[in-house]
Amino acid sequence: MEREKLQAEIRKLARDRKALILAHNYQPPEIQDIADLVGDSLELSLKASRTDAEVIVFCGVLFMAETAHIVSPEKIVLFPAPQACCAMASMVSPEDVRALREAHPGAPVVTYVNSYAEVKAESDICCTSANVVRVIASLPEKEIICLPDRNLALYAQRHFPEKRIIYHEGFCPFHDVLSPEDVKRAREAHPEALFIAHPECRPEVIDLADHVASTSGMLRFCRESPHREFIIGTEVGLLYPLRKQNPDKKFYPASEKMICESMKLTTLELVYQALENLEPRVVVPEEVRVRALRAVKRMLEIPRG
Ligand code: 13P
Ligand code: SF4
Repeated sequence: MEREKLQAEIRKLARDRKALILAHNYQPPEIQDIADLVGDSLELSLKASRTDAEVIVFCGVLFMAETAHIVSPEKIVLFPAPQACCAMASMVSPEDVRALREAHPGAPVVTYVNSYAEVKAESDICCTSANVVRVIASLPEKEIICLPDRNLALYAQRHFPEKRIIYHEGFCPFHDVLSPEDVKRAREAHPEALFIAHPECRPEVIDLADHVASTSGMLRFCRESPHREFIIGTEVGLLYPLRKQNPDKKFYPASEKMICESMKLTTLELVYQALENLEPRVVVPEEVRVRALRAVKRMLEIPRG
């Protein structure tokens, strides 16, 4: 079936099924174009927790679909590309969390949503790249455990010189790969451009950034900025919404190596089949879900900045 026709069929089927299609900012363009909401992890979790749709179709990676089920267990959560895993989420286990707690008694555990439900279930509160600073600011303790992303923890540490942020050695391979040399090369090629980085980038890359933000924070910054050119230090999928929203501005990838293959596994055909069959679903076991919900809910209750 040709692309536009399939997209129209999906929209019709979604209406019939009372389904909400959520897509992350890194999803392929043709998927973003059929979504009810395209957003960052925080926006998508909030929407999943507040919709009255009967079905949620999650176009993203597994931890995102799991989070949708954690906050909305009464809904069917469809996950059209079940192989789509986040490399960072696989780098931490519940045992790692328990070991960190034992080594640092009294330190609360802040878990990045880029983690699996079993890890969230061991945590005190979750965070995303959009609210990590607000989440840590809400905690009175001087020692805080922040996992699984070392780079996100080191980024947060800059905002809290009076606290000690203890981190785990996880990382996103597609952000950690960006080097200061890549940024310098991009700046030389585009001397008028601002460099915008995601907090999953290495500290030495963050040092070079004009602005640091979540994916939707980057979209907001570029939309509102009077600047015309931007070098984008995150997964290349974000270039599509950036260019779509700002046809008069120029966007350059900081590195062509920043491609998260998992985010590209969703296809229109898979979304159509998922809606038709109401499968494959993501279901978090209830015992894990209720414990993970505490940490996710506590995060969602923090006022947005
Ligand atoms: P955002 O929450 O900023 O969209 O980031 C999600 C992610 O997976 C980044 O790699
Ligand atoms: Fe995970 Fe990195 Fe992909 Fe984001 S870009 S989903 S952190 S592997």
